[in-house]
Amino acid sequence: MKKEINGKTKIIGVIGKNIENSLSPLIHNQIILKYSLNFCYLPFQVTETNLTKTIQGIKALNIRGVNITFPYKEKVIEFLDELEESARRIGAVNTIVNNKGFLTGYNTDVIGFKKSLQEDGKFVIKEKKAVILGAGGAARAVVYALLEEEIEEICIFNRTLEKAKKIKQDLSSFFPKSHISVFPLEKEDLKNKIEKSHLLVNTTSIGMAPRVDNTPLPDEKLFHPNILVYDLIYHPAKTLFLRQAERAEANVINGLPMLVYQGIESFYLWTGLKPEGKEVLEIVRQIA
Ligand code: ATR
Repeated sequence: MKKEINGKTKIIGVIGKNIENSLSPLIHNQIILKYSLNFCYLPFQVTETNLTKTIQGIKALNIRGVNITFPYKEKVIEFLDELEESARRIGAVNTIVNNKGFLTGYNTDVIGFKKSLQEDGKFVIKEKKAVILGAGGAARAVVYALLEEEIEEICIFNRTLEKAKKIKQDLSSFFPKSHISVFPLEKEDLKNKIEKSHLLVNTTSIGMAPRVDNTPLPDEKLFHPNILVYDLIYHPAKTLFLRQAERAEANVINGLPMLVYQGIESFYLWTGLKPEGKEVLEIVRQIA
């Protein structure tokens, strides 16, 4: 199958700082090919100083929409005309839709995370306990997703405690019954909380290529077999964090299913077409 670009081809893409290793172009162009759509998904590597012009460029060039990735998920908000509710509450946007020059921001990471947990992790969120490592934009979407599904308790561990406190403050106001506690990344507290948790999620960039020898947990003895260990990183496919978790006989899940599912939701917003998640995940696993 060969893709034909012509005068009617609609452009979609991804905007980020270091996107050479992004799998999004591959995922979206595979979907485009499979359904013979007249779209093309491109990577746009953008520096911080050019972000304003880039967003103006989406309108000027009539680009149908873009994904937003690290480190612009929060910074783009000020340039948008409207925010969908969860993106506004979370304070982060990973998808922009351009409707004749009117830009709306969405956060499809929430549904991507939920779906990957439920379908690939076979995990029921309701009334469970989770430990979250990190307190950046990705952590915000993860915490929001868990709260929406009525998790019983969330413990956020972060190097910079203030950022974890801010997530608690921002998100607990939308979920009055939520139980969120925050801690610095210290071993004793981690041990106490991980022991009693059903889910452990790494939302930090620690362990991502090229620094594959790093891991966010100070001691691999903190893992246990009764916990689902989730790393949002997908490059490498198995981080040291996940390999150590597997050694402790925990079930693990990497960032690829979430990337695919959030991508499918974004794709739907741009094209009105929603491919089957499992099928796309299979294709991506074979070629990534
Ligand atoms: P994203 O939008 O992908 O979540 P981010 O907002 O930059 O990216 O957040 C990255 C997270 O990884 C943060 O929680 C960050 O900790 P700080 O809030 O203290 O900066 C965490 N992180 C990144 N590198 C780290 C490191 N070497 N040690 C500890 N935490 C780290």
